Amino acid sequence: MTSSLPSCPFVAGQKITDPQLFVGRKQELELITSQMTALQPVSINVVGPRRIGKSSLLYHFFQTYEQRVPEPKRYVAIYLSLQEAQCQSEDGFYQAVARRLWHHLTVQRNPALIEPLKVNPFNRLAFCAAMGQYKRQGVLPVLCLDEFGPLFRHPEEFGDGFFDNLRSLMESGVLMLVVASHRRLDFYQRRHKLRSAFFKTWQVVTLGELTEAAAEELVTLPASRIPGTTAALTMQEQRWVRQWGGRHPYLLQLAAGLVYEARQLGQEMSWAKAEFEKEARLVSKPRGDFSSRLDCLAKIIGGLILLSLIVLVVMSLLN
Ligand SMILES: Nc1ncnc2c1ncn2[C@@H]1O[C@H](COP(=O)(O)OP(=O)(O)OP(=O)(O)O)[C@@H](O)[C@H]1O
Ligand SMILES: [Mg+2]
Repeated sequence: MTSSLPSCPFVAGQKITDPQLFVGRKQELELITSQMTALQPVSINVVGPRRIGKSSLLYHFFQTYEQRVPEPKRYVAIYLSLQEAQCQSEDGFYQAVARRLWHHLTVQRNPALIEPLKVNPFNRLAFCAAMGQYKRQGVLPVLCLDEFGPLFRHPEEFGDGFFDNLRSLMESGVLMLVVASHRRLDFYQRRHKLRSAFFKTWQVVTLGELTEAAAEELVTLPASRIPGTTAALTMQEQRWVRQWGGRHPYLLQLAAGLVYEARQLGQEMSWAKAEFEKEARLVSKPRGDFSSRLDCLAKIIGGLILLSLIVLVVMSLLN
């Protein structure tokens, strides 16, 4: 060790892959766990705007689910981003899933779970057969599928037949999906005129900003998550970061990283603030107070118009 300074614990831009640096989202994690362990698991659609933390949530769940469930051997959870080039065809999708399953330790330790993945060609039929075999072994595959949206760019590959097949596996309790997308799945169904019942029964989890406690946890990293460490930012720096980033996970990470960097480089805080403003502009603020106030205003105006109409009608009747 050359320095006693803590290294920068802030990551802005990519999903959080170090579970020790992941903050909050307790309710969402509990909900996914409870669906997974239910008698009839219901698949989950995690929806939210850009950089709100969908990928981080899915990845963190995949990393930690074994500590959350009573019998971890009964589940095999994998994480797969459908943005990968391989997932542009239906067979490519099944093969990518099979590869992730193959590398899972629970699968590696059980030949009965490895064998059905060896089938060649690994297509829809082979995938269904493999999932059936997992069911017979009492194992539930939980596929955390990130970036589901790009799938719809290939309608010739991912049509009603593909979705109906997934739906029947989900319905018979053979498979559970946790899918992240910018819009709800039924939005894509309408847009792409799909008829499959796949889009019907999902539990939607809308991801918003962090809670107050989680935002505090973030700005006091790594002390808040790693025992025996100290916060990377001073109290004053933490206050600045909270002022700039509010409770938005990405904006907080961005601000914290820049404030930390400014100190390391001996830069003024105004430099960090200017850099922050530049980067933050690329992220649309989630629907917050402003739009809800607009909604409220629209309702009040609508109500007033209705009321004046009623008064006018009553007055003309009286006249
Ligand atoms: N739970 C979290 N703990 C700490 N930081 C987080 C958390 N969630 C999100 N972040 C911060 O937000 C950034 C964006 O997160 P992530 O990539 O998961 O968002 P996303 O919703 O998947 O974005 P996109 O829609 O662009 O795919 C991360 O790089 C990180 O800085
Ligand atoms: Mg993402």
